[in-house]
Amino acid sequence: MISIVGSGRVGSTLAMILVLRNVDHVTLVDIIPGLPEGEALDLSHMASEVGVDRRIIGSNDYSSLKGSDIVVVTAGLARKPGMTRMDLLTKNAGIIASVSREVAKYAPNSKLIMVTNPLDAMTYVALKTTGFPKNRVFGMGGMLDLSRFKQLLSDYLHVSRGSIDALVIGEHGESMTPLPSYTSVNGIPLRNLLSDQQIDEAIDKTRKVAAEVIAKKGATFYAPANGISRMVEAVHYDRKALLPVCAYLEGEYGLSGICIGVPAIIGASGVEKIIQLDLKGKEKESFDKGASTLKEALASLPPT
Ligand code: NAI
Repeated sequence: MISIVGSGRVGSTLAMILVLRNVDHVTLVDIIPGLPEGEALDLSHMASEVGVDRRIIGSNDYSSLKGSDIVVVTAGLARKPGMTRMDLLTKNAGIIASVSREVAKYAPNSKLIMVTNPLDAMTYVALKTTGFPKNRVFGMGGMLDLSRFKQLLSDYLHVSRGSIDALVIGEHGESMTPLPSYTSVNGIPLRNLLSDQQIDEAIDKTRKVAAEVIAKKGATFYAPANGISRMVEAVHYDRKALLPVCAYLEGEYGLSGICIGVPAIIGASGVEKIIQLDLKGKEKESFDKGASTLKEALASLPPT
């Protein structure tokens, strides 16, 4: 069973994708009375017509998390136009600490996938509050950043999005780090196909495009929910997929004691292996800047 805490825009869209892809039973939890039950009913009606026989439940009671293999947390405040993800730090840290205690109580053996922003700091709070091993608590940010980078590159290159292999790591925030050195079009290095100026433009737009979507439609949820679903499926089907995820570092990339986006092998145990890259130049600068921002953010939080 896959549970989703937070049945708002991202949570309910994720539920819809999981049902349409027929991945597993889905439980939705939220604090708003009626909301998760209403979402579950609506999704069940859709499922019945598309021939999916998964159980879909909505509840205001955290005990519904019992039996979850995977819990996805999208609960908390979302940024409004003009806000950065980091502006949500203090308020969402309190929400995530309380949600994490419930997850540890009712789904102690689950893999916990964090989504709430600021993503990297919230993943850290969830890891420390649950006391789960580090392989079982990780976050979705890079998958979304990567989908935005790929879309922009496909616009520049006029090639199918499906031909682009890209990687975005680092902070899921102002210092997100698209990696042109590890991006190719079916194996052809990106730098063979675009000028440095075009690549820099694409990186800059990748960092800013979420704010544009939020300014225009108030939130982003289709692309995030798809990114989460890819991670859920990698765990559920033990795919051993190499994906960018927010993971806890203990010496990798010269860092310890923070969660940040890195490439990792994702399978049934969660984060099965972090892949170490030898970053250089602007890519290293951007990654290190994100790490410093995160260290400062974590230092400003009360102890968990
Ligand atoms: P939303 O406002 O539509 O939904 C959030 C839901 O969380 C609400 O229904 C609210 O009632 C619920 N909630 C609040 N406290 C709760 C608690 N203690 N227990 C259970 N439910 C609780 O927000 P949206 O747009 O779905 O975004 C959710 C979060 O995901 C935000 O923090 C947003 O910034 C983040 N986000 C992260 C992305 C990423 O790439 N990591 C991408 C998009 C959004």
